Amino acid sequence: MESGSNGQATTRQAHLVGIHSCRGGIGKTTLAANLAFLMAKNGARVAIVDGDLQAPSLHHALGLDAHRILHSLSEFVLCQCEIDEVPIDLSRELGLEGAGRLYFLPATAELKATASILFDGYDVARLNKELLRLAAELDLDFVVLDTHLGINRETLLSLAISDTVLVLLRPHDPDRDGCSFLVQIAREVGVPSCQLVPSMIVEGADPVRIGAKLEQELGASVAGALLWYRELAEFGGQSLFALRRPDHPYTAEVERISQRFVPVVEAVRSVP
Ligand SMILES: Nc1ncnc2c1ncn2[C@@H]1O[C@H](COP(=O)(O)OP(=O)(O)OP(=O)(O)O)[C@@H](O)[C@H]1O
Ligand SMILES: [Mg+2]
Repeated sequence: MESGSNGQATTRQAHLVGIHSCRGGIGKTTLAANLAFLMAKNGARVAIVDGDLQAPSLHHALGLDAHRILHSLSEFVLCQCEIDEVPIDLSRELGLEGAGRLYFLPATAELKATASILFDGYDVARLNKELLRLAAELDLDFVVLDTHLGINRETLLSLAISDTVLVLLRPHDPDRDGCSFLVQIAREVGVPSCQLVPSMIVEGADPVRIGAKLEQELGASVAGALLWYRELAEFGGQSLFALRRPDHPYTAEVERISQRFVPVVEAVRSVP
């Protein structure tokens, strides 16, 4: 919370980045974890949120032992804890220096909680509201939200609070209509920026050509293009790739995507 020029308290609004796809296993969680880490490494205050309450895996991509999760978003949506009890500050152990911070809001794969969420759903509006309140309290620049694949009630409602949506898709995704629908829905609910990220591009293919074709077909710009890398596939999302392999081309491309958000931090911080 900051004090504005009129002397009244003003709340800095974090920029919410939602990571979506129509199909599974396309690299959403891996991108979410590495993007959030690189944003924080570059000095931003970031929370990375496991919004895939049906199949949480972000803790793996961050290299966090599940035993470290004391409270989760799953418990929060089931009204078993407060959202303020959920964040884990990973800044120190990830070696973040200066202003950069990375908070992790995990979900739990615990059977009973997952079954209850699957059967009964949850109050997404309450989650959204509390997430934004927490973001203001932690004075965040960014909230990066990893989501469940496809288009369902929860992902739709999370779209509604996103400032930027990144839609991952395979270059020759047979579900092109689904991706197109996702882009249209994002626009319909007023998301200011919806960008494509072609992912798992095979060796030898030209990412620039692929990006240009997708831009034309789907009418949305391309934020970056992620190639398929054997070492990332074998790595299996067991720890933070960008931390372990800072010089890898995957890390370089995610860094390039993160640089697109630098003007956002400057704009957010210039709020009086
Ligand atoms: N660019 C890449 N090249 C090779 N393997 C990758 C790449 N990106 C992610 N992977 C691997 O693919 C697997 C799936 O990635 P990830 O979990 O990020 O996908 P997802 O879209 O979040 O999946 P889900 O829809 O199940 O949540 C992981 O084992 C990850 O290590
Ligand atoms: Mg995932």
